Amino acid sequence: MLDFHSHLIPGVDDGSKDIAMSVGMLDMWKSQGVDFICATPHFYADSTSPDRFLAKRDSAYSSLIDTLKNTPEGITSYPHIALGAEVYYYRGLSSCEDLNRLCLQGTNLLLIEMPFGGEWTDYMIREISEIKSMGLIPVAAHIERYLKRQPSDKIDDLLDTGILIQCNCEFFLSFKTRKKAFRMLSDKTIDFLGSDAHNLTSRAPNMSDAIAAIEKKLGADALHHVKKNETLVLNAYGMNTTIGGAA
Ligand SMILES: [Fe+2]
Repeated sequence: MLDFHSHLIPGVDDGSKDIAMSVGMLDMWKSQGVDFICATPHFYADSTSPDRFLAKRDSAYSSLIDTLKNTPEGITSYPHIALGAEVYYYRGLSSCEDLNRLCLQGTNLLLIEMPFGGEWTDYMIREISEIKSMGLIPVAAHIERYLKRQPSDKIDDLLDTGILIQCNCEFFLSFKTRKKAFRMLSDKTIDFLGSDAHNLTSRAPNMSDAIAAIEKKLGADALHHVKKNETLVLNAYGMNTTIGGAA
């Protein structure tokens, strides 16, 4: 099982506060049968540069890895961690020379957080298309958060760019949204699942709860499309066999 979206790296954004919390989060993922975590800290171009962001992220990652190596269980007992970013859209994003470096390492998958305020403009949609035409694969983070904020034609415009779609596990767990979530999964609109976990409590890893809800409602085959997309990531890490966990 792969978690495509998380804030696991300690002390770099509003996610994990420190190494102890990150290890606790990894223990939760492990107990849920999650093998592979995409660590995607927030990148805001108006508050840092790609160079500073990547240096801070990579340093915090190294400290976490050193700690895991020294645990009694050893690092191999923990899920694999792949480094990426959750890039907040800004005007001119498609011209950023560092987009490749902000992709999930070893892939051309770029997780993009679309703006929350105001209606998306045609310019924004064109920039997403432009990023795709550059050979990258944009992935829209937590699409469920926009479904009530944007007119349906704007959501359709975004989907028409060919962007891949990630949704959070919570989408399948909330009584208010799960019907829509099941429909979007059945329609193959959802390409990746992520916990978007930030901590051990209010926004804890919850992959297994979502997988269980999906399998109960739709059966394990409903995850086939998501599993297929996960190979985009796993192939890049030489892990192109079916990973363990549900479905
Ligand atoms: Fe996030």
